[in-house]
Amino acid sequence: MKGVKEEIERVLISAEEIAQRVRALGEKISRDYGKGGVARDPYRRPLLVVGILKGAMPFLADLIRVIDLPLEYDLMSVSSYRNGTSPGEVRILKDLDRSIAQRDILIVEDIVDTGTTLDHILRLIQARSPASIRICTLIDKPARREVQVPMHYVGFTLPEDVFVVGYGLDYAELYRNLPFIGVLKREIYEEEGIADR
Ligand code: PRP
Repeated sequence: MKGVKEEIERVLISAEEIAQRVRALGEKISRDYGKGGVARDPYRRPLLVVGILKGAMPFLADLIRVIDLPLEYDLMSVSSYRNGTSPGEVRILKDLDRSIAQRDILIVEDIVDTGTTLDHILRLIQARSPASIRICTLIDKPARREVQVPMHYVGFTLPEDVFVVGYGLDYAELYRNLPFIGVLKREIYEEEGIADR
């Protein structure tokens, strides 16, 4: 991955730190949803983990493998019109495969920034009458929040407004494959036409 790593100013969260935190989140989720916890019946009606594409993919893949409960997972893909006609509107690119009525839902995101995406996803999911909904995000960036959203499981809270990439997080679709979370060099995102290189 030489070349890509040279575009990183500093590593903010190492692969080891991510792995350790993901394990802790998995243990907490397993305890919370275990018998008598959040889920009505985790053994007969398993937890349904909903990953939000594309950024959540590496986190989702690691997290589900450290949750010690029967579970199903599904994927949803949404796109925000950040500069479009209706600011904040979210369009579904890929919906869930099956009905989620009476299911215990754990939404998995890579990052919650303004909160707009998650707010829309929550409304969509809530309208389908699940038994419960909880949110798990690897990164919370409260400094940029515009819409308040509930947060149940947070991997890391970024105290400052830094632009991070890696472990699913992209800049112009790149850097998602980095095993760590890092800060991109300023000249990279101030440069035009990164996607064309
Ligand atoms: C990212 C991230 C969240 C959203 C958070 O997705 O995965 O879904 O932005 O931002 P918000 O809180 O300001 O709404 P993005 O639309 O970049 O798509 P991606 O996951 O495919 O990178």
